[in-house]
Amino acid sequence: MALFGRKKTTVGLDIGSGFVKLVEIDHSGDQPEVVRIAMSPLLPDAIVEGEIMDPGLVADTIRTLWAEAGIETKDVVTAVGGHDVIVKKIEMDRMKEEDARQVIRWEAEQHVPFDIQSVVIDFQILNPGGTEPKMDVLLVAAKRELVDHKVSLLQDAGLTPRLIDVDAFALHNALEWNHPEAMRGIVALVNIGHEMTNVNILEDGVPILTRDIPFGSRRIREDLQREQGLTAEEAEEIVQGRNPLDALDRYVRFGADEVAVGVERAAAFLMAQYAGEGLGRVFLGGGGSRIPGLEAALAERMGVQVSSTNPFERVPVSPGAPGRLSLDEIGPVLLLPVGLALRNP
Ligand SMILES: Nc1ncnc2c1ncn2[C@@H]1O[C@H](COP(=O)(O)OP(=O)(O)OP(=O)(O)O)[C@@H](O)[C@H]1O
Ligand SMILES: [Mg+2]
Repeated sequence: MALFGRKKTTVGLDIGSGFVKLVEIDHSGDQPEVVRIAMSPLLPDAIVEGEIMDPGLVADTIRTLWAEAGIETKDVVTAVGGHDVIVKKIEMDRMKEEDARQVIRWEAEQHVPFDIQSVVIDFQILNPGGTEPKMDVLLVAAKRELVDHKVSLLQDAGLTPRLIDVDAFALHNALEWNHPEAMRGIVALVNIGHEMTNVNILEDGVPILTRDIPFGSRRIREDLQREQGLTAEEAEEIVQGRNPLDALDRYVRFGADEVAVGVERAAAFLMAQYAGEGLGRVFLGGGGSRIPGLEAALAERMGVQVSSTNPFERVPVSPGAPGRLSLDEIGPVLLLPVGLALRNP
């Protein structure tokens, strides 16, 4: 409670193909507290395979959501992701950070499959205190166009982007705050959305590989519609666990298989490089992870422990913040925007 001075809050905005979601976190107290949560469905095909097809519609949806939620600030933190963003652990000769900044573009050229002139680059030295002649560096490269489009979309919605994060890092941030046990060994953070599944493999808490799988809850809903003769609304009720359906099992097993193949491919790629221990555990997030039976099917299919995540496990939520939304239901859906709102730029 500040008598003078303003409340210091961050609004994290996640523009998904199914839902636009925002979470506002107050950073002025001893620990961050969620003070507002809002989400709004997007019309179908406004975003397809991560690409914003109808920026005007998406900007309108954001503007309306912002106004209805009664957010005062115009500042926003959001993220980019998908195949135009590369996250990679690389090795470089050991040097100081300011020197690395001078040569990172040249180093990146050897690791990034895009025209190096057309990307924005950032990096982090993973073992800055080390004395070995080589150092591990986490390299991030995003196509400049992707970032520029995000910025102009937000400006069209009347907002001021304060930070453009990377999806995988924001998800990782929410996981680290809420599930510190996930920061040991090799684990996969798997965020199953409406159209896309992001796989983020962490080694002792360091994100060493990210991959996207073109699978989400939309696929199961559409299969149910087509094969079970259901309307979109009826199928969605089943996907969200509000109505049971015996035949759902078969679709869930198909979904688990899609996700498992993607995760195993990513893990196998790593094992070929590092030859270390295998994947120890899988953590699930995203609205698609709520499909009844999916967590269990994935555990059975992959033979590893699979756990759901809750972005409010260790981040308190003020009583009025969720409005009419049920926190238990929407927790997994909000992993990414909570990870964004936890940033304090
Ligand atoms: N309580 C819920 N509210 C909203 N969606 C839910 C809920 N439970 C399950 N879902 C499913 O989760 C999906 C949305 O998940 P999420 O918000 O993670 O996806 P997205 O970020 O919009 O999509 P993507 O990341 O693939 O572009 C919905 O399409 C719906 O099928
Ligand atoms: Mg998403």
